[in-house]
Order: sequence, then structure tokens, then C-alpha cells
Amino acid sequence: MKLVVRNDDRAVAALTARLVADLLKARPDCVLGLATGRTMERVYDALVEIGHAEALDFSRCRTFNLDEYIGLPPGSAHSYRAYMNDHLFSRIAIPLENTMLPDGSAADLAAEAARYEDAIRRAGGIDLQLVGIGETGHIGFNEPLSSFTSRTRDITLAPGTRRQNAVLFDRDIDAVPRRALTMGVGTILEARRVVLVATGAAKAGILAQAVEGPVTPMISATALHFHPDSLAIVDEDAAPHLKHREYYDSVFATDPEFASFNA
Ligand code: GLP
Repeated sequence: MKLVVRNDDRAVAALTARLVADLLKARPDCVLGLATGRTMERVYDALVEIGHAEALDFSRCRTFNLDEYIGLPPGSAHSYRAYMNDHLFSRIAIPLENTMLPDGSAADLAAEAARYEDAIRRAGGIDLQLVGIGETGHIGFNEPLSSFTSRTRDITLAPGTRRQNAVLFDRDIDAVPRRALTMGVGTILEARRVVLVATGAAKAGILAQAVEGPVTPMISATALHFHPDSLAIVDEDAAPHLKHREYYDSVFATDPEFASFNA
């Protein structure tokens, strides 16, 4: 894993969006793995901005989202499909048929999970997967005890996750679904690159555990230590409990990948 600390959430979003934009320029037919949550809103704002400024071509890329709630009413504004349409897809020229999320309203959830895994495989796998981190340490909706070999499946959400996500349901916890379909940890680990984004003081405790270990299925984000190319991009507010700050700062200053940001 590489870790970089940027000043604030804007700088985190700018760096994350730059990595996605550079991939798109190099490979317009790339496969992007996308995530939801408040952290990603700034990332998508930054990506839309770069898209306009640099005439990025999104028309040939395909996207797979990490997860979707189960049991929302059809067309719910709280679905992750609605989130993605609002925050990204409606703001860039991407054909909606190239944008995939698991279908949380499927009658047969196991069949839907298998179909989703197959669709990722047939697309040639995910080139770059964005992940946020929940306060339970989840990536996607892989709550504590998720096997590091888990695949896309339905899962019960932790009470803490439902409380955290209630802000996106007008603070009505009862409106937050109890279950979701999520890519598994094993699915996420097969992406060619995984970029974890964490901002804000609320993430400081769980981020330190996720990044500096110990590795445990109680915190699914720790599985990223088994990935050969994972990168964590975090802001100062999320970073105070990290023990090896001096080292991380020297990585950002010297790694050629970040040279243009240090120029
Ligand atoms: C939801 C998503 C996660 C995401 C998390 C972080 O739980 N399923 O994939 O990491 O939100 O949310 P936020 O960015 O709002 O803190």
C-alpha cells in the first residue's frame, strides 16, 4: 500500500480525480470501479470539472459500482443508482448502459450477485476501483467478519453503518435499508488498482486501524494489504492517528507518480 496525506478534502478529491482522468486518457475503454458516499461527492465534482476542462472522453469506459441497497421502493431517490446518476453520470457524456450497479430489487439476489460477478469478468475486470471507508471499516458494504475471499452477495448492514448513512435519508434511520448487495472483498481485491479515499475527523480512528493494522476481517479495509497496488489518499483531518506520518510524507514528496503535484 502507498499512502498520501493532502491538506484537505478538496486536494484529496483533486488527486483522486486526476488519477481517474489520467487512466481514461491512456485507456478510453477502461473499466472503472465506483463508490458512493459523501466523500465521493467531491471526487465526482472534481472529475466532472477535469472532464470539461480537458474534454475527457467517457463514451467508451464502463463502470461497476460497489454496492446497492436492497428493498428500496422502485425509483427511490436514495438508491445508489440515483446517487450515481445525480453526482456523476448525468454530468458527463457516458452512455447509461455502460454504467452498472448490482440490482437490489432483484427477486433472486444470489442469481443477481452471480450475474454481476460475471459481468465484471466479461468486461475484462476492473482497472481502477475507488473505495471509501465506513466507520465500521467496511469497503463496499463488507461489514465486520466479511471473508477476504467473499464475492458479490447480500449482507446485513451494521447498525453503525445505518446510523452513518441516515444523513443521506433525511436523518431517518428507519428509512435506511437493513440489507444490501455488495461486491465481496475478494471481488474488490481483483481490481488491478484500488484507491481508498478517506476524509474528515470522523474517519481518523478507523483509518489508522485500516492502514496500520493489524489485518483482520473485522475491518475489511485491512484486506487492501493483500493487494499489490493499493493507494490510500487521505486528508489531514483523517490522518492524526497515523503513526508513520514522516514516512508517508516522504513518499508523496519522492514517488515519481506524484511528481507533477510537487512541481
Ligand atoms: C457507504 C458505502 C461505502 C462508503 C461509505 C462511506 O457505506 N457503501 O462504500 O465507503 O458509505 O461513506 P461516506 O463517504 O459518506 O463517509
